[in-house]
Amino acid sequence: MSITEIVEKSGLKHIAFIMDGNGRWARERSLPREAGHKKGAETFKQIVRYCKKIGIDCCTVYAFSTENIKRPRHEVEAIFSLLLAYIEEASDEKDIEFRFIGEPAQLTENIGRKTKALEDETRGRPYRLNIALNYGGRAEIVNAVNELLRDGRESITEDDISSKLYTKGCPDPDLIVRTGNETRVSNFLLWQCAYSEFYFSEKMWPDFSASDVDLAVRDFAGRSRRWGGLDKK
Ligand code: IPE
Ligand code: IPE
Ligand code: MG
Repeated sequence: MSITEIVEKSGLKHIAFIMDGNGRWARERSLPREAGHKKGAETFKQIVRYCKKIGIDCCTVYAFSTENIKRPRHEVEAIFSLLLAYIEEASDEKDIEFRFIGEPAQLTENIGRKTKALEDETRGRPYRLNIALNYGGRAEIVNAVNELLRDGRESITEDDISSKLYTKGCPDPDLIVRTGNETRVSNFLLWQCAYSEFYFSEKMWPDFSASDVDLAVRDFAGRSRRWGGLDKK
């Protein structure tokens, strides 16, 4: 079966990536960490295009967490420059609707303006790309609850919270892939991952390729998702 058929048959609609390992990739080559982020940005473009090509409707990537601001200023600035360079070319990515999840406007005024402009320009396109930028899963839930309080709600349901998350309009991720040989969630999509399948790759993100996506998708397709119920016999 082709990978596109496997995607379709497995019901994989939303894939998310924790793009980890850029710094270690660079260190292994005696390069500055910034070089790892640069190569990682190239990988990101290829992987997003590939996921679209094989028929996955929605892709979410973890680009910068609320905690990543603790890093040295030169590293943070290098990441922001790569992001701004990507935004410049991103509207050429045909068919992709961009959504920045998190609080990008709190990073810099320029990032706030450019991310918003890209969202507006690409609204209504068929494939959705969520870029998690200044994103924290706990902050997202707190934000959702505060919005509900502002609406005057006294009691809320799970659907109410889902409807106020940054990812509203997207199904929860079916599959979350983390590279970089770490097996933790690092404050990513905490609400949405309740029944996601996880796939951990030992590869550092800059080395991750389309064939690694295929491995993750095939692994996903072989799993039995029960949502607390029993297998259909
Ligand atoms: C992921 O790679 C990119 C960001 C968190 C921005 P890292 O920079 O965390 O790379 P390692 O984990 O230090 O190797
Ligand atoms: C998670 O990676 C965040 C991103 C990939 C953007 P980190 O490198 O920040 O996570 P920890 O610190 O290893 O948990
Ligand atoms: Mg890391």
